[in-house]
This record gives sequence, structure tokens and C-alpha cells, in this order.
Amino acid sequence: MINIIAHIYQVILAFSLYITMAAARLSPLDPSSFSRPEYVKVVNISLNLNVNFDKKILSGTTELTVEKIDKTVNEVILDTMKLNICRIYDAESKENVEFSLGDHVPDYGTKLTIKLPNDEKLRYKIAIDYQTSPDATGLQWLSPKATAGQKYPYLFSQFQPTHARSVLPCQDSPGVKAPYTATISAPHEFTVLMSAIRDGTKELSVGKLSHFIQKIPMPSYLIALAVGVLESRQLGPRSHVWAEKEIIEECAYEFANTEHQLKTAEDLCGPYVWGIYDLLVLPPSFPYGGMENPCLTFVTPTLLAGDRSLANVIAHEIAHSWTGNLVTNRNFEHFWLNEGFTVFIERKIKGRLESSKSQDFDAFIHISNLNEAVNLIGKTNPLTQLVVNLNGVHPDEAFSVVPYEKGQTFLRYLESVIGGPEKMEPFLRSYFDKYKYQSIDTNDFKAYFEEYFHDNENLQEIDWSAWLYNPGMPPVIPDYDTSLAVVCDNIVEKITAWNGDEPAPITLKDKETLSTFQVIYILQKLSETTAQSIVKLKVLSNIFGFDNIKNAEIKFLWFRICLKAHWEEKVDSVFHWINVVGRMKFVRPLYRDLYNWEKTRELALDNFRANKQNMMHVSAYTLAKDLHIDE
Ligand SMILES: *[C@@H]1O[C@H](CO)[C@@H](O)[C@H](O)[C@H]1NC(C)=O
Ligand SMILES: [Zn+2]
Repeated sequence: MINIIAHIYQVILAFSLYITMAAARLSPLDPSSFSRPEYVKVVNISLNLNVNFDKKILSGTTELTVEKIDKTVNEVILDTMKLNICRIYDAESKENVEFSLGDHVPDYGTKLTIKLPNDEKLRYKIAIDYQTSPDATGLQWLSPKATAGQKYPYLFSQFQPTHARSVLPCQDSPGVKAPYTATISAPHEFTVLMSAIRDGTKELSVGKLSHFIQKIPMPSYLIALAVGVLESRQLGPRSHVWAEKEIIEECAYEFANTEHQLKTAEDLCGPYVWGIYDLLVLPPSFPYGGMENPCLTFVTPTLLAGDRSLANVIAHEIAHSWTGNLVTNRNFEHFWLNEGFTVFIERKIKGRLESSKSQDFDAFIHISNLNEAVNLIGKTNPLTQLVVNLNGVHPDEAFSVVPYEKGQTFLRYLESVIGGPEKMEPFLRSYFDKYKYQSIDTNDFKAYFEEYFHDNENLQEIDWSAWLYNPGMPPVIPDYDTSLAVVCDNIVEKITAWNGDEPAPITLKDKETLSTFQVIYILQKLSETTAQSIVKLKVLSNIFGFDNIKNAEIKFLWFRICLKAHWEEKVDSVFHWINVVGRMKFVRPLYRDLYNWEKTRELALDNFRANKQNMMHVSAYTLAKDLHIDE
């Protein structure tokens, strides 16, 4: 009943939002953007911004080169979000141009319409002087306390999916690609990094200018900025890792195999076109595992396991250099084209660097994650489709593992249907080459796949409609090699059957034969079964050393098991961890677990309210939904 009421309420909300947005005329090409690139399109971006840590704002000028696609249209439409616009003018003549701002639509921002002259020219350069708001959703301003060094503030951005508009006026749709240049001014002590090639710095009396150039056209969500007191270490011929000095050596060790992973990816996908591949290890509040910002992948410090065991996330971000960054989803309804392909390639890299057994094990263990997500969202919820409808649904709200894991499952299925990796891998290279520098949708992929494999006799077997548009779990789960999982299943069975009085059914010696991912799998299985007794958990904790574990994936699952067992002693450590770490993969399930246990529900709500101002917008936004807080 409560559900039905909630549902009706949601429908009304979605409907009223739909009306508001329809009134504001969102793009027919992208339900998350106001822009109309089919009429006039942004073809070049140039940023000139000053970083003000005291006011928590960026201020300066964005210059956009726009091109008329339809000569009869005399205005360009941009997305903005809480930007304080001072002046808009022709960059060459410096003459003011007319503009108008629409109403603010929550989560989507404000439509900016700029008049263009009614003359014969096709290209115009427009300059916009403005400031960002201190609560720009795409920026996180950290106080010195939230950094490792504790002495200087730190700024980083996260624009995907739709937060670029909170930092620059732009056509904030992945269907629009443009090169960019930037000049950023910041105080002397700071290093400024962007998703571009570093093009020198210049010391001035008031601070330092840093120049950047990104020649490859890319969507607005891939523009990225970080400003902190940073150091770097070389990882390979085209890679450095950047981080605060307190953790830089640890980072250099953890990610030492970057060049090896990059070469393996090139072998699979074709040449790496972005020149450099650097890593930036952010402070712990970074909300994602990694973000594939071109030339400069952003990663969470929760990958620092001390033994390189979580570096697969780097393989994932490297894979995005082709899937997502080179061939991009046209809008976020086709997000699986970015993420499903990337997971598929990531696991192929793992297969080549380790073994096909571990590639399959990785895919197999993630079926549980997919299953958990599908059950949580709802088996019949259209958001569990591979291609979703985002009319009235913000991409941050739709975000889940579904496009990642259901997407990779589909590609693995397609691979098995058309005859294995020998057939699929040449197709992938051809697909990347055909669509590089473009933004495409699922139909483009399907059409090219069918054209490429037109004489493959198994093509007819594929039920495209079920895979793409049916909600719930994938129609087919491929035959994975499960030998690494079977060992773990036996252990889980023994642990579950054990009554806790007898000696433990697993010894330190058994434990030493297991890989990190096998331990993760065992914990995942244990977290899915009924609660274990605290007596048993204490014994297991001693064998595995869970109390001092550095590996964040293991720590996370261990905490879930402890909460499920209602082990009160552990609650403080859980809160301590989620107040430091912002990675949503860990924080969201732990908050849900705390919410679901009556004893900790109020604590969780209070803790969220007390800490949300230290969280990145996307974390606070999704957690508020998870915790059923209406704001
Ligand atoms: C983009 O604009 C900047 C600044 O005006 C300019 O330096 C750069 O050459 C332009 N790039 C392209 C590809 O037009
Ligand atoms: Zn990804």
C-alpha cells in the first residue's frame, strides 16, 4: 500500500516535472539537455577561469565557437546551472549580444538562449563572462581537513552525467563533441590538472597560469579539473601518477603496471589516440571508483590495497579511451554503450594479463551484483532495461550496475553466438574505427553489427528486443568457466554449516591459497546468506585478519556481514569509514544496511544529515533517495 502511494506520488512528480521540462523544451535528441545542436552546435570551447578557494567559485570567461547547422536559425541554446552570468558578447567585436535565461528546472538547470546575427556567416565566437555558484553540483571544494596534507584546500570536478553545466555554459549532451583549450589561474602552491595535454605554466605575481589543450573533440562531461598541492611520479613512457605527497609512493607502487595494461588495451582495441595517460588519485570523498577523464583518469584512493589487487579499475578506465571517450553514447539512455563495452574490454584485458579463468570468474561473480541491483530497483522496473527512457528521470537517479553488467553480459552473449573472440575482437576494432570521434546510439551499434556479421548463420538467433528492452535479469547467462568459484562455494557451504563450537572449517593455510577475488567472492556469498553468528565471525576475522584489512572491497563486504549479524561493536567502525570514504559503491549499500536495521536507522539518518555537506552532490543526492529523505 505504502508502495502504491509512493508510486502514485512518483508518477505525479514525474508528470509535473515532465510538464515543467516540456514547457522549458528539453531536447528531443537528449532528454537531459536543453540544447538543440541539430540547429546550432558548439564546435570549440575555450576556458579562462580563476580558482577562488575562499569564495569556492570559479570566475572568468568561457568562449564558445558555434556553428549554424540550420542557416535559418538565429539563436544558440546552452545548458547552465546556477551560473552567475555577467555579460555575453561577440568575442571578436566585443559587442554585447542579447540573451535570455529560462526558469530554473531542479536537477536540469536553466536554459540559456543567445541571439546570433542574421547574416551569411556560419561560425560565431561568443564570450560569456560569469561565475560559478559555491554549490555547483559538478565541483567539490574540500577544506584542508579533508585532504591527506591537512594544510591546503583541494578542488576537483565530476561532470558526468550532466554537471558540466554547473561550471561552464555548454551544450551539455554527450551527443555534442568539441575540442577545448583552457587557461586556469590558481595560487602558486597549487598544481592544476585537466583532462587535456598540459601546455605549460606561467608564474605571475598574483598566482600561476596553467595552460591546457585538448585537440580531440569530446563531450562536455569529459572536461575535468583538479587543483591541489600535488606531486607526481612517472609510471611509464606516457604516464604519470599524481597525488598528494603523503600517498604518492604508495600510488606509484600500486599502479606500476599501467603501461602494461595500456599496451594490452591497444592490442585489443587499436591505437591509443590521446597521447598521454596520467592518473590522479583523489582524496577519499571522490564518489566513483574511477572517472575516465581523457589524458587524466581520476581514481579513488580506495584502490590502494597495497598489493595491486584492485588495479583492474585502471584497466576499466583505460578501456574507456575507446568505449565512451572515442565512441560515445549519444545520450545517457544508451549508457550501456559506454559502460557495458568498457566492462567487456576490461575483462578481456584481465584475461590477457592473468588467465581466461580469472576473466570468467570476474564476470561470474558480478552476476550476483547485477541480481542484487535488479531486485533492489525491481524486476519489472523499466530502469533495469539495457536501453532506458530518461524522460523525466535524471541520469543520476537511473545510475546503477545494470548498464555495466547487463551490458557486458549481452556482449559476451553476442560473442558466443557469432563464434567467439576470434570473430568478436576484429569486429570491435572495426566498430571503434568506424565510429571514432562520434556519438552514437544502440541502433547504430545494432545496424553495424548486423552488417558486419550479415553472413553469419547464427545472427537470427539474437532476440535484440528482449535483450535491449525487457526489464530484469539478462535473458541468457553465458557459460562461464566457474572453476575458481567452485572452490569458494565449497568453503562457503562449510562455513554456513559450521555451528561455531567446533574448530573452524577453514585454516590460515587454506586462506593463503585463495586470491583476493576469491576472498571477495566468499564474503559476497556470506553477505547474501542468512546472518552468521558473531562467534563464528570472530573466528573468521582472526583467520582472515579482517580487523586490519586494507583492501576496501574486502572491508566493505566484511562490514555488510557484520551489520547483517547485528554485531553492535562494529557499528562505530562502519560510521567512521563511511564518513571518510565517498565512493558510492561502498557507501550506498552500507547506508541501506544501517537503515534496514532498526537499531541503527536513526543513527544513519542523523549521520547522513550531519555529513552531507562534506559529500559530493551526486552522493548526497542518491543517498537522500536511498534513505527516503524528501528534500
Ligand atoms: C578553439 O579556440 C581557441 C581559443 O580561441 C583557439 O586557440 C583554438 O585554436 C580553437 N581550436 C579549434 C580547433 O578551432
Ligand atoms: Zn566506466
